[in-house]
Amino acid sequence: MEKKTVYVGMSADMIHPGHLNIIKEACKLGTVTVGVLTDAAIASYKRLPYLNYEQRAEVVASIKGVERVVPQTTLDYVPNLRELKPDYVVHGDDWKEGVQQQTRQRIIEVMAEWGGKVVDIPYTKGFSSTAMNQRLKEIGTTPEIRMKRLRRLIAAKRIVRILESHNGLTGLIIENTSVTVDGMRREFDGMWASSLTDSTSKGKPDIEAVDVTTRLHDLNDALEVTTKPVIFDGDTGGKVEHFVFTVRTLERLGISAVIIEDKVGLKQNSLFGTEAVQTQDSIEGFCAKIQAGKRAQVTDDFMIIARIESLIAGKTVEDALQRARAYVAAGADGIMIHSRNRDGMDVKEFCQRFRKENASTPIVAVPTTYNQFTEDELAEWGVNVVIYANHLLRSAYPAMVDCAKSILTHGRSLEASERYCMPIKEILELIPGTKKG
Ligand code: SPV
Ligand code: MG
Repeated sequence: MEKKTVYVGMSADMIHPGHLNIIKEACKLGTVTVGVLTDAAIASYKRLPYLNYEQRAEVVASIKGVERVVPQTTLDYVPNLRELKPDYVVHGDDWKEGVQQQTRQRIIEVMAEWGGKVVDIPYTKGFSSTAMNQRLKEIGTTPEIRMKRLRRLIAAKRIVRILESHNGLTGLIIENTSVTVDGMRREFDGMWASSLTDSTSKGKPDIEAVDVTTRLHDLNDALEVTTKPVIFDGDTGGKVEHFVFTVRTLERLGISAVIIEDKVGLKQNSLFGTEAVQTQDSIEGFCAKIQAGKRAQVTDDFMIIARIESLIAGKTVEDALQRARAYVAAGADGIMIHSRNRDGMDVKEFCQRFRKENASTPIVAVPTTYNQFTEDELAEWGVNVVIYANHLLRSAYPAMVDCAKSILTHGRSLEASERYCMPIKEILELIPGTKKG
């Protein structure tokens, strides 16, 4: 009699005895094929795995009893099942409850088409990947792993979600905050080191007055307590002769990307638009800066993203497109298109036209003014990375002013504590390790 075939789907990021038990049980039923979920399949419903697909596939292939490893490119098992038509699908019985119930039901129905069956193996207790993930975060990361993460995220996700951080605490918020929407866990993918919020939090204007050395010194606070990737707002990049040093330093620190804008002279914040003097660099001048930066970097992982200010300076989408072509030809690893128009139509037009002629160069958007559009809609336009550029600072400041005013008004802090402050117990427990002994 021909041996039966068994399919097991897994992410296999952190292999533990629970996985081995499933494979052992699967082996008893027949020849085991493991569908290892690709980065894109995993990133569609939770954080990117620590190991990439090739590494995870290699680990699984060497587990005793695994006959074959195939990529599972979607969270949905069905495409692989229809192709392989296994006799059995084996899974831990934890999927009988919670959000996975429906997945299981659908697999049972599809398997029935060729007489296949689903077998649930009692879940091995004591191994929670959430807890293991937490421990990994405590262990930390290395600059190299952190740097590579952004490129992996861009390749794996429909859209990468970045939020502004300007100190260790905001870094922690980005690292740890998550919500569950329709059964899917959502979190931020990384941090934006914004020139606006770095300057504003120091009480200084956003005109490159806070120098790069100081900003990097402060950024280290966030790097100390997080593992997610960072995109650094490099303003104009300064003089070419200085920019090459900035690139080296950022790369050594494990920053994934720098975004530089094609402006010259005194840099003013883009959100002033044409109310401030915004002088664009020549195409040749800015291309020379990109090229110098690309020559200076040591690894292939670091990204230099060119930020086009044509729409900020009141010029046309056509002008922005012409610049985009030239910057990509000069070696830019991505394009950020900025605008402060509220209807977002100029950015949409740019993205759609750019995507028609260039399918792969990542597009970054900063929808501060056109914030009515969802991430899904931006992704539809062709945007790969969305940056929420200033929101943690903008939400904290009014709360702090209200608190200060309340203390002044009442001549005591009772009202402010009740209305605006987190409980003392919570602030003490916020940072692990605050209490010793
Ligand atoms: C920043 O956050 O500093 C930026 C984005 O550069 S913007 O403020 O919109 O120019
Ligand atoms: Mg800036």
